[in-house]
Amino acid sequence: MANLTTNAVVDRVLEEATAFAHENSGDPGMSHTFGYFTDHPVARLNRERLTMTLREIAERATEGARLLDMGCGGGLFTAAFAAAGYRVAGVDLAPEEIARARRFAERMNVTPALLVGDLQAEGWMTEVEEALGGRPQVVFYGYCLHHLPDVPSHLRALGEWLPPGSIVVVNEENPRSPSWFLKNAVRSVIQRDTKEEHQLSHKRWSGLLVAAGFEPVGDLRGADLLPGVPVGMRWSQVFSYEKGGGLKGINDASRGCGPATN
Ligand SMILES: C[S@@+](CC[C@H](N)C(=O)[O-])C[C@H]1O[C@@H](n2cnc3c(N)ncnc32)[C@H](O)[C@@H]1O
Repeated sequence: MANLTTNAVVDRVLEEATAFAHENSGDPGMSHTFGYFTDHPVARLNRERLTMTLREIAERATEGARLLDMGCGGGLFTAAFAAAGYRVAGVDLAPEEIARARRFAERMNVTPALLVGDLQAEGWMTEVEEALGGRPQVVFYGYCLHHLPDVPSHLRALGEWLPPGSIVVVNEENPRSPSWFLKNAVRSVIQRDTKEEHQLSHKRWSGLLVAAGFEPVGDLRGADLLPGVPVGMRWSQVFSYEKGGGLKGINDASRGCGPATN
């Protein structure tokens, strides 16, 4: 597939993902990556989440950069990155998610490397390097970091592996967001799903990344279903770091760095 503009990539991915979700609606395992499609009330957030992520990466990465999608799940973002022209690898712990990601990539006519691997263990870095033809220049975490049992040790290993100047882009749900809180409250009542989430505030994630040798770059981005919510309070947030680079354009006020509650 030829490189597409951000809006064209988002349109194409969402169209295919919606069809994919409909066709596989009987598969309960679709929920991690494709669960919010079809007529789900939060489907609109997918567009904004994908768009802000692609824009963030486009502003920081060179064309065709080597990009690693950590905890890629069913490969929605992985396919989008490949369609946008990056050289992409996706890693996930779950073989069934990687199988879905392969089917989705085929449907999208893109060819990212899709690998089963435990980000908390050893071995996956060598495989990624081989698949990408070098260490990644961009690393993306989409709703993944909060799943890892020992984030500091994972980030320390990442910091030792990545070359100076590489970029880490994180997309996480914000536990300080009223709409995220509301969504979880509704889910726990309707679905009787009371599983604990381990999301941290942006400030807490930032502290862990800085401790592992990464410098914050740029401004916080955010998407929410409710209008007029300040960026620091939005449901889905994107923020970036550079390995071993100088501080560039940091604006703490616009990053919404209030006192951490998590
Ligand atoms: C909420 S899903 C996010 C999927 C995708 N990144 C997205 O944004 O749509 C989190 C993913 O992280 C993966 N994951 C959790 N722990 C992991 C680990 N230790 N190593 C690799 N992947 C892991 C899960 O299998 C799951 O697919």
